[in-house]
Amino acid sequence: MTSDQYTHGHHESVLRSHTWRTAQNSAAFMLADLAVGADVLDVGCGPGTISADLARLVSPGRVHAIDVAEEVIALARRLHEPAELSNLHFSVDNVYDLSFEDEGFDVVYAHQVLQHLSDPVAALLEMRRVLRGDGVLAVRDADYGAFVWWPLDPRLDEWMDLYQRVTSANFAEANAGRCLAAWVRAAGFAELKVSSSNWTFHDEQERQWWGKLWADRVRQSDFAVQAIEYGFATSATLERISLAFLEWSRQQDGVFIVVNGEVLARK
Ligand SMILES: C[S@@+](CC[C@H](N)C(=O)[O-])C[C@H]1O[C@@H](n2cnc3c(N)ncnc32)[C@H](O)[C@@H]1O
Repeated sequence: MTSDQYTHGHHESVLRSHTWRTAQNSAAFMLADLAVGADVLDVGCGPGTISADLARLVSPGRVHAIDVAEEVIALARRLHEPAELSNLHFSVDNVYDLSFEDEGFDVVYAHQVLQHLSDPVAALLEMRRVLRGDGVLAVRDADYGAFVWWPLDPRLDEWMDLYQRVTSANFAEANAGRCLAAWVRAAGFAELKVSSSNWTFHDEQERQWWGKLWADRVRQSDFAVQAIEYGFATSATLERISLAFLEWSRQQDGVFIVVNGEVLARK
């Protein structure tokens, strides 16, 4: 079983971003294929905010949400137990070796996960194994190389360069959005429907949230630790990039667009 280095880790500044996610802002491309009563596997579910939305949408269908990180599954349980969604189950599991029987799910969904894996095709083969014959695969990943922002700032270019170098050192693919169709086809899926959608951060509240979040992430998350450990950055580099994000967040006309690739496919 492959054991990968996850670039972000689960620092509070990372979870601030992941807990913002909903079915609406992160799974809209597959909602038309999500029937009431469907059994769903959410792979690499993180803190599970999307999983909980999916459970509400498919009830009485079941949502199994898995993640390889014990600490984030513990958090997901704490966050969503009060919602009393009896059709939502969290467990620790590894996408390369899922502990589910063959063909048990109508929908297998992975959001912002394949970009972190050293062998995304092996993961997709395992996701294919647990998908029913008439089931739907739904994957969505950011494409860092396609991100755009305004105003331009060489320190933000430095951040992008550093992010690409750290993910490469982790044998991961920061520009996964554009690779999804190729990976999905290589894993034997057919009837691909390829799309893309953005997250756009512009108004004052969005800028403050996104800018502060990254200002903290570049100094405090596992990404920061790895950037220094791999010899790609010093604390001064990270401080400089962090300040650039804070300054960006104060620009009235500032905009940051996160581009995501998406694929729906069948067996
Ligand atoms: C960027 S987060 C996405 C979380 C969630 N899907 C979301 O969009 O908010 C990626 C998640 O994939 C998990 N992950 C990484 N490698 C994995 C593996 N081999 N099997 C299962 N989960 C994995 C990480 O622990 C992390 O929680």
